[in-house]
Amino acid sequence: MVATPIVKWAGGKGRLLSQYEPYLPPRFKRYFEPFAGGAAVFFWLRNQRGLKFSATLNDSNEELINCYQVVQSQPEPLLARLRQMADRHSHAYYYQIRAERPELPLERAARLIYLNKTCYNGLYRVNASGGFNVPMGRYKDPSIVQEDKIVAAHQALQGVQLWNKGFDDAALAARKGDFVYFDPPYQPLNATSNFTSYTKDQFGMEQQCHLAAVFKQLVKRGCHVLLSNSDSELVRDLYRDYQQVEIRAPRFINSKAAGRSSIAELLILANPAESG
Ligand SMILES: C[S@@+](CC[C@H](N)C(=O)[O-])C[C@H]1O[C@@H](n2cnc3c(N)ncnc32)[C@H](O)[C@@H]1O
Repeated sequence: MVATPIVKWAGGKGRLLSQYEPYLPPRFKRYFEPFAGGAAVFFWLRNQRGLKFSATLNDSNEELINCYQVVQSQPEPLLARLRQMADRHSHAYYYQIRAERPELPLERAARLIYLNKTCYNGLYRVNASGGFNVPMGRYKDPSIVQEDKIVAAHQALQGVQLWNKGFDDAALAARKGDFVYFDPPYQPLNATSNFTSYTKDQFGMEQQCHLAAVFKQLVKRGCHVLLSNSDSELVRDLYRDYQQVEIRAPRFINSKAAGRSSIAELLILANPAESG
């Protein structure tokens, strides 16, 4: 079974993998993904290269990392709980689960997956106090229990370190020969495309500059580093010393129809040979 993301995530890279492929290093020691989200690139690498590389997935979203920990360690109880939720799914049940703040890791993971599969647009979005505030979606028959996907992800996650830290702490654990793929919240192109609320902490200009400094440090160490971001002036400028490749990305996040066409994004890359 091919492993793919188990949650739909804003900025998910599933549709872009074939465009990224030529820029992934053919060989590396360990893999780090400091802004994991749906972790599409990680799952893709696992499918292509098997279990032989060790990996660290990190995200500042605690619920998401908890969910991966549960998929990694207790897939069967998770599937059992999802089956119960699927049986009870209704308008009232959705809002009941949305209002709950469970403490048990298993229950938190099931809640995240259930809400992700049934909410409007399938997007995890939180308000200023960290609450999940997306209304219910209008799916006729949402697939809440994706057994094959959970089992494939469980296998792909074996031996993977799952961290809930800031991207910098996670990335700076990388050493010479390791591969770090950064997929940060994108620098907005204009005032209306500022979707950055994956977590309650916003990712602004200061963070983008800090990320560029971390990128540079990793290149100096001799890591393979790849980063995706919007094709904005700030990004072009911050990474002017590195190779920049334009990628055409379909956009489905904006609610305005005009925002749904394809837009350009940038891949920034640096490999050890270039670090001098
Ligand atoms: C563009 S998404 C990643 C999408 C992912 N590549 C995929 O395929 O689904 C960015 C992720 O960064 C996380 N994030 C935001 N700020 C962060 C920070 N300071 N440190 C670590 N992760 C952060 C968000 O929670 C979100 O999951």
